[in-house]
Amino acid sequence: GVSWKLADHPKLPKDKIVAMVVLDGWGEANPDQYNCIYVADTPTMDSLKQGAPEKWRLVRAHGTAVGLPTEDDMGNSEVGHNALGAGRIFAQGAKLVDSALASGKIYEGEGFEYIKESFETGTLHLIGLLSDGGVHSRLDQLQLLLKGASEHGAKRIRVHVLTDGRDVLDGTSVGFVETLENDLAKLREKGVDAQIASGGGRMYVTMDRYENDWDVVKRGWDAHVLGEAPYKVRNAVEAVKKLRQEPNASDQYLPPFVIVDENGKPVGPIVDGDAVVTFNFRADRMVMIAKALEYEDFDKFDRVRFPKIRYAGMLQYDGELKLPSRYLVSPPEIDRTSGEYLVHNGVRTFACSETVKFGHVTFFWNGNRSGYFDPQMEEYVEIPSDSGITFNVQPKMKAVEIAEKARDAILSRKFQQVRVNLPNGDMVGHTGDIEATVVACKAADDAVKLILDAIEQVGGIYVVTADHGNAEDMVKRNKSGKPLLDKNGQIQILTSHTLQPVPIAIGGPGLAPGVRFRNDVPDGGLANVAATVMNLHGFEAPSDYEPTLIEVVDN
Ligand code: 3PG
Ligand code: CO
Repeated sequence: GVSWKLADHPKLPKDKIVAMVVLDGWGEANPDQYNCIYVADTPTMDSLKQGAPEKWRLVRAHGTAVGLPTEDDMGNSEVGHNALGAGRIFAQGAKLVDSALASGKIYEGEGFEYIKESFETGTLHLIGLLSDGGVHSRLDQLQLLLKGASEHGAKRIRVHVLTDGRDVLDGTSVGFVETLENDLAKLREKGVDAQIASGGGRMYVTMDRYENDWDVVKRGWDAHVLGEAPYKVRNAVEAVKKLRQEPNASDQYLPPFVIVDENGKPVGPIVDGDAVVTFNFRADRMVMIAKALEYEDFDKFDRVRFPKIRYAGMLQYDGELKLPSRYLVSPPEIDRTSGEYLVHNGVRTFACSETVKFGHVTFFWNGNRSGYFDPQMEEYVEIPSDSGITFNVQPKMKAVEIAEKARDAILSRKFQQVRVNLPNGDMVGHTGDIEATVVACKAADDAVKLILDAIEQVGGIYVVTADHGNAEDMVKRNKSGKPLLDKNGQIQILTSHTLQPVPIAIGGPGLAPGVRFRNDVPDGGLANVAATVMNLHGFEAPSDYEPTLIEVVDN
């Protein structure tokens, strides 16, 4: 068994109240008009920066520092919060799927063996996000899986595509669908009956998260499983082109569509005896559809029909729920997270965000595990997000409410760790609305102030950091950093995350004198934060954790 007892830190006291604040989508970049954090009025974060280099520094939040395949992979909330919570770098889903596909092991595993039993008489359905964003899925992995599945006996394949425009530029979905159509045409030449069957925009169809809005999943169910959608079309490229012309339509928010044959019949509803794979590796936005596909007992919406299928996830998405029970690639085993250690060592923990980011500071933080380690020691509070809106119309989101909950938890003195995620920079940044993102950044800064004021009152400590960049750069740039213009001379709005590092700041009246950032971990990343926070709670981190960012000098 694991020995949970942490050694006492030789110099730092226990029982301080530590506020752990994660600004979502808040990176550090050169100041210019597309840097919404720079443009916004952010006096609190600016003042923290004055503490550099001893109390403020940058940490890496993308690429290999968070377990992604390459340094070209932007950071994201899953890998960011996993690293923050787990204190070590785990090869993440993207990388694990790459290896399983490259070695062919994916076709030897139990998950594939299971779905394969349907290949003789049933259809193989692949549902997931269609882009090369690398955050939830990757097109090249889908391409390899299509090829491999057909070589391993799949004779009839239907793909259900969710268009992106969030982890990649808006408008790129047409090209991705064309690429996929080419691949499917090649499979047809080889005698495989392969087609796109349905689709829709990721934010409107199927990929909701943390039970924010089950209607999103219902629209996906209706299109993918029942073969029902308001738009019935013959061809997916046409569908995407046409639906993009609807008012307010974008890749992220395309309405659902179903592909029909010359008689108007859906080409690929999901029926008894079929196999289904959700090909996203990332968990949060697959959990809800996975429940609908897997659970016999289900009351979130009327499924109308619950086909008897063989279902596997690309990965297992929830380690606590063991959901789905079948999967093609084993997920990273993110064990012994800092949250679990701290609870075992008497640190009472409070975590809070609004719905759209709630699982980030709970589920992701705890290694993709839902629920409490010890309900006596922990309290997780979810503030309901506004649903059915794009957050540029409500850029302040629930930042004040989150900060007030954190303040109350701090002032109650019932918890030693109070952990929040402030979503504004990210959620509004993803809309590509620069003006709204500036408002969002100010709102997040105000919320930080509220929390720091409470920490001041109780003599506590704060750690303020971020999970990855987003709001600090809202334009696509060329290699030398200049905004890239499209063929009409327009800038291209960057809705996605970035490769930028993120700030981390420490302080507060409870911070022991002599605590400062060491200068011998220049490449420190998000995974170094867990040991840092354990120290601030008065403990040494486990020896296999990434090294702490702080030292205590005698003065
Ligand atoms: C999303 O799921 O909203 C984006 O793809 C990634 O954003 P996140 O990593 O900040 O959640
Ligand atoms: Co994001």
